Order: sequence, then structure tokens, then C-alpha cells
Amino acid sequence: MMIQIRPDRFLQDLHTLRQFGAAGVGKGVVRPAYSDPDIAAREWLAERYADAGLKTRFDPVGSVWGLAKGQSLLIGSHSDSQPEGGWLDGALGVVCGLEIARAAMEAGGPAVSAVSFQDEEGRFGVTTGSRVWSGATDLKSADRLTDTQGLSFADARARMRHLAGDFVDYKRFTGFLEAHIEQGPWLYEAGEAVGVVTDIVGIRDMRITFEGEQNHAGTTPMHRRRDPLQAMARFQVLIAERFRNVVTPQTVWTTGHVDVHPGAHSIVPGRCTFSMQWRDGETERLKKMEEIIRDTAGEVAEDGGFSVSTSDLVGIEPVPMDARMQAALGDAAEDVAPGRWRRMQSGALHDAASVARLMPVAMLFVPSINGISHAFAEDTREEDLVTGLQVMAQAVERMSVA
Ligand code: GLV
Ligand code: MN
Ligand code: MN
Ligand code: MN
Repeated sequence: MMIQIRPDRFLQDLHTLRQFGAAGVGKGVVRPAYSDPDIAAREWLAERYADAGLKTRFDPVGSVWGLAKGQSLLIGSHSDSQPEGGWLDGALGVVCGLEIARAAMEAGGPAVSAVSFQDEEGRFGVTTGSRVWSGATDLKSADRLTDTQGLSFADARARMRHLAGDFVDYKRFTGFLEAHIEQGPWLYEAGEAVGVVTDIVGIRDMRITFEGEQNHAGTTPMHRRRDPLQAMARFQVLIAERFRNVVTPQTVWTTGHVDVHPGAHSIVPGRCTFSMQWRDGETERLKKMEEIIRDTAGEVAEDGGFSVSTSDLVGIEPVPMDARMQAALGDAAEDVAPGRWRRMQSGALHDAASVARLMPVAMLFVPSINGISHAFAEDTREEDLVTGLQVMAQAVERMSVA
């Protein structure tokens, strides 16, 4: 049995998927979890799965599945995007899953199922759909998560209630494969075609709130102010200094969202809430950074007369990829793109990290032009997209004969 993938059909589907929420310059996409374009894209995907002869299912959180009969390999990723995102983050892995499952069906085997997980991008706390499915978090706790506007996960997923069926039994799958753009510069700069992922770094994500005293911006002398935005600024400078002896060049931390209340030019703000996220390949380092963050927030609050509170969104440990599946991807990469691939760590989080709780998982990367992602400018050369698909399809064949 030989799977005959069709690159033309694969690229066509990728471009069609991009039309849901197409925005911005270039190939930008705005398709956050549970938005109208996200739900419409998932309904379109369900139709593609059905056309391919797969049984379709939406689960209670809105992940959409195309199920092959009996035991099968599972391939997929996510089709929600960042609030400003590109056309490939998640979409590539989803359409790869669709094309390989479809081609495998046409070839009469091996059995391949496909999935697009919901809310990978963390409107409610990163990889929420796959975390709930894998049991990393339970549905009740997930339902209490809120987005930056205060909307709850429970209310968001209710938007897909009319489609929802049961959770899919994970025991029907023998393993999970996810193709993804690298989202960093390494493959592109080296002129390589494929990355075989060795492990996914761990991540911690929380919100911190400093509360001070809201007052008039013209009449309140500087020495009497308790401005929580200033507390946030001081906190940022201090943690950068204190991290210096703890981090490696691979360690990253980010404040990507700040809410200053009430947010007016002539008001000294009363409250500042901001995101604090950090990532590293080692649990010990993640813990050490957390200590620094909590101690520093407490110290800044005490020094300046602020109150401080924190809410934890996610803590995800570093996850190694399955050795046998990595080897199949590596052998396929060497065959399709000899000498033009490497093994590498993933600095981005992926659904594969959740699914690894349930079954062997592995991931394949293709280059991102200029290393850009989570931005409208995200892109990958067409031939690299196709090479990734070919490597994945060949790896599926290798795994099913082994
Ligand atoms: C998810 O896309 C992440 O790694 O931030
Ligand atoms: Mn992604
Ligand atoms: Mn992403
Ligand atoms: Mn991601």
C-alpha cells in the first residue's frame, strides 16, 4: 500500500482555510478560538473529513475530529489563531492531517484519523482543547478560565453546543503526529527543509495585578501617587536583573498583555493587570523563575504600598518526543531531503505536549521565513510546505510497516 499524497489539493485546502478570518497584510489571519470564523472553519473541516470518508465528530470543547475505523494513527494540530496571526500556525498541521488521512483512505490503508484541537493559542490558557481531552485539566476547572476580556471558557464553548458530541476515546489511537511551522529562525537561516522535534519546552503562564490608588493626573503630586503601572515597570526591570544568573540563552519570558484600569490619559490608574509567561526546557529553572517572580512582585507591592494578587493559568512541564516516531521522521527526512534536516527543540508549545500524556507523539517542523510567527507576516515557501507533507506521509508508512 502506497499513500499517494496530492500536494496541489493540500495547498488548495490550506489557502481555502486561510479565507476564514483572512485579515491584515499578506496572508494574515484573525481566527481566535470560538470566533465566527473559527467555528465556520471547523464546520468546513468537518465537511472535508466527511468527504474523505472519515466519521466526523465535534467534542464538548469544539475540537473537530475525522475518525478512521478501528485502531489508527492520529494526525493534526489546531485551526484557531492568535488575535493577530498567520495562515500556517496550526493550519499546516491540520491540513497535513486531512491530506494524509484522505490519501490513506484512498489507498485502502493504513488507518489515519485527523483532528483540529480547539483553543491551542490560549485565548483561555494555551492548548486548552487538547489539555481537556488528555485529562491534563478537567472540564470543570477549564470552564472557569477567562479570556483577557473576562469571558469564561464555559460561555465561549457554549457557542458550539449545537455541534457538540462526546469526547473521543483515546484508546482508538496508536500515536499522534503533528506538523508545524518552526516559528523561529533556525531552519530558515541554515537553508534546511525539516526539523524533527526532540522535546517541547515547559511553560508557565499567569496574570499579576497590582492595585494602587486611582486619582487625578493633573492634581496628584508625584510623591503621593500609588500608580500600579509604575509598580509593573519596576517589577519588569527587577526580574530581568534577577533572572540573569538563572537563565540560559534558550530561556524566554514575556509580558504580552497589559490592562491599565481605567485606561484614560488624565487618570492615574488604580489597577494594572498583566500577563507573565516564561518558558524553558528544564522544570527546575521554571520553578526558580517562579520564585523570583513571586518574591519580586511581593517586594514591589510592599515597598510601594500596593496590593498584589496573582492567578495561575497554566503550568506545563517539558515533554520529550517518542524515540521510535522521531526515528521514523528522521529516516523519512533523510530520504526526502538528504542532509537538509536537523533534530531540534520546540520553544513553542503544541497540542502534542498534551497528547503525550496518552500515547507516543512526535512532531515535524518546516522553516518559517525570517523566523516570524504570531504575526501577519508569517509565511513558509511552498516547496518547504510540500516537503514537510512528503516527510510526514513517508514517516506514516514507515511506522505502519514497522
Ligand atoms: C502557542 O502557540 C504558543 O506556543 O504560544
Ligand atoms: Mn500552533
Ligand atoms: Mn501559535
Ligand atoms: Mn502553539
